[in-house]
Amino acid sequence: MSTSSPARPLVVGVTGASGAPIALKVLQVLAETDIPVALVVSDGGAAVLREECGLYPRDLEQYADATYDDGDSAAKIASGSSSTRGMVIVPCSGNTLAKISHGFADTLITRAAQVHLKERRPLVLVPRETPLSPITLRNMTTAAEAGAMMLMASPPYYLKAERVEELVAYLAGKVLDQFSVPHKLYRGWKADEAVA
Ligand SMILES: Cc1cc2nc3c(=O)[nH]c(=O)nc-3n(C[C@H](O)[C@H](O)[C@H](O)COP(=O)(O)O)c2cc1C
Repeated sequence: MSTSSPARPLVVGVTGASGAPIALKVLQVLAETDIPVALVVSDGGAAVLREECGLYPRDLEQYADATYDDGDSAAKIASGSSSTRGMVIVPCSGNTLAKISHGFADTLITRAAQVHLKERRPLVLVPRETPLSPITLRNMTTAAEAGAMMLMASPPYYLKAERVEELVAYLAGKVLDQFSVPHKLYRGWKADEAVA
């Protein structure tokens, strides 16, 4: 009898900030690894996914091992006893950030985020907003102080990108770096390695 426990999933939440192509790229790369993905898309995330990628949440299911409804607060990932390797919310809307930083857990995404904070597991938030109000700045600080990593969807301009896809790949690569997922999505500053 095998005693090995099932691989811990990475929870991927997709919410309604601009940046759905980054989520798509992250999911596509993860699907090429042996890391199981638990996916949740909020209604706002679905609206932006449609607007920016011409896709529906069901189109993302092929990249995930498990997909949950954002209203399913009884899902496995809503419990701290269900082990994961971490969670990323990409992109992370100001609305979801505000809820997380104030302890709200009225959706599966926000509940799973609270679980990651209380269990001291990696939680990466990828907000996209500009300019930033003092409210959002405070929310970012609060979330960061609680243990979340704020990974802004802001690419560097030394990439001299000619296509939006290059900026998307860079940001997806930065997300994957936080979970030590190997990729060839971007070349670091003055790095020698080839980029796919
Ligand atoms: C096309 C589109 C783009 C949006 N872009 C952003 C954005 O960049 N940042 C943000 O915080 N909210 C953005 N919003 C607003 C959020 O989607 C909205 O606040 C939504 O209620 C968030 O819900 P959620 O946090 O449950 O996903 C956008 C909405 C739409 C329809």
